[in-house]
Amino acid sequence: MAFESYREFVEELERAGELVRIREEVATELEISAISEREMFEPDGGKALLFERPTIAGRVSPFPVAVNTMGSARRMAMVMGKSTVEEAAAELGSLMKAKPPMNAREALKLAGVAVQLRHVKPKQVASGPCKEVVVRMDELGTGRGSGSVLIQDPTLLDMPILKCWPLDGGRFITLPCVVTEDPDTREVNLGMYRIQVLGPDLTGVHWQLQKVAARHGRRYYETGTRMPVAIFLGGDPAYAFSATAPLPDGLNEFLLAGFLRKKAVPMVRCETNHLMVPANADFVIEGYVDPKEPLIDEGPFGDHTGFYTPIDKYPAFHVTAITHRRQAIYPATVVGIPPKEDFYMGSASVKLFMPIFQMTFPEIVDIALPAEGVFHNLVFVSIRKTYPYQAQKIMYGLWGMGQMMFSKYIVVVDAEVDVHDTSEVLFRWMSNTDPARDIVMTHGPADVLDHATPRVGHGSKMGVDATRKLPAEGHPRPWPPIIATDAAVMDKVDALWQKLKKLKIETD
Ligand SMILES: Cc1cc2nc3c(=O)[nH]c(=O)nc-3n(C[C@H](O)[C@H](O)[C@H](O)COP(=O)(O)O)c2cc1C
Repeated sequence: MAFESYREFVEELERAGELVRIREEVATELEISAISEREMFEPDGGKALLFERPTIAGRVSPFPVAVNTMGSARRMAMVMGKSTVEEAAAELGSLMKAKPPMNAREALKLAGVAVQLRHVKPKQVASGPCKEVVVRMDELGTGRGSGSVLIQDPTLLDMPILKCWPLDGGRFITLPCVVTEDPDTREVNLGMYRIQVLGPDLTGVHWQLQKVAARHGRRYYETGTRMPVAIFLGGDPAYAFSATAPLPDGLNEFLLAGFLRKKAVPMVRCETNHLMVPANADFVIEGYVDPKEPLIDEGPFGDHTGFYTPIDKYPAFHVTAITHRRQAIYPATVVGIPPKEDFYMGSASVKLFMPIFQMTFPEIVDIALPAEGVFHNLVFVSIRKTYPYQAQKIMYGLWGMGQMMFSKYIVVVDAEVDVHDTSEVLFRWMSNTDPARDIVMTHGPADVLDHATPRVGHGSKMGVDATRKLPAEGHPRPWPPIIATDAAVMDKVDALWQKLKKLKIETD
């Protein structure tokens, strides 16, 4: 299902009983985040929240703030227009496995696949709702904003941008979709990198060392030419999800968004640079990074690691224009001690791309990134093991695969283990390993947010082979079977169990 604005998505959430409206005035500084955090800790991610009267320094913003809109498995499925994320994954999987047809039935099936691809390519349009209000920074007059309600011609200071945590260096845009372009190939990238507000038309942009926009940026720094950047918020939530998806460098995330929403993304040119953004976005912030300027201090920021990331040097982004819908909703998230909204976004990503993992590693049954591992710190993988040292192959393979390079600990278990049950994985890990034999230590790139690595951006890694061992893996002893009740007895006990329980309740 395609959403033509964030408001449409929010209304759909409300119809599904997934949204709570908050009509009281709530401060964008610390208060929205405190309420959101409490909601995010509710079972299964709680509800999405719409703050209808967010305040900035005591004045009510005309733009409501939507938080936690993607913060549950059900809401993530809604972002993908499906009843479950697995459905979207199965659809992507069938696309990946498409083969030349050998008969009429297969040709028909392939035609179905081709129909799905119809929407993938973005479509250029002349204008769109994201241009209902256009504010060019060089044309700003005086007298903006008066009384208790802000007017709708915002600079960054007028937008309901959150300060989430007490020690944050200021206000941060937390769900920004950042569009950049490779100056050599003109390939477009969409990534999500937080934006720190430093003035009415100045921000920091936190694209980390190993991310695609940082690679684009390095090319502009090498040539000394201005780097155009466009940041947008809202529109179809599939855009924000696609911006976070770990697609290979060179693959345009708008293709994924088009695939998910089953409708081509309508793209419109920016007012003050040549980049294109979705015409149905809620806000667009246009501007540039000037490689001739020194990097600036960015942070500190209460991060998804559960700790503050310290001040570091990042490029300055100069805003040249802000355009928006008249009835725009400002989407935001709050990151911090897990689980938060980003856990559900990350889990959806892993599920969606499972068919791709399985194409490279057919023995993989399932992968889980438990919330405690804040994305990459901890990865559980189950495999159908058929030969010695297959678990080690999987560890090294994953460390070499895109953003899985950030994984600090990878635990490999046998096919029958439910990797989403952390207790079961720990049981197998503790019982199935001989540390000297089954632990692999190595080095590699690390998440720059990881405060435990001695240096930023690289560190050590540990792999645990918790599968049952074969003689060729240095285990000459027989491997014992795990204890399980006989299946026929279990069926009998199942029936008896209800009867016994009923009797117990009656006795109580
Ligand atoms: C809520 C949220 C905030 C994020 N903030 C950042 C950030 O500030 N910097 C960064 O490099 N990655 C951040 N990420 C992760 C990237 O969006 C993610 O790695 C994405 O795949 C990067 O895209 P790229 O591979 O096209 O560079 C964030 C992810 C989420 C879900």
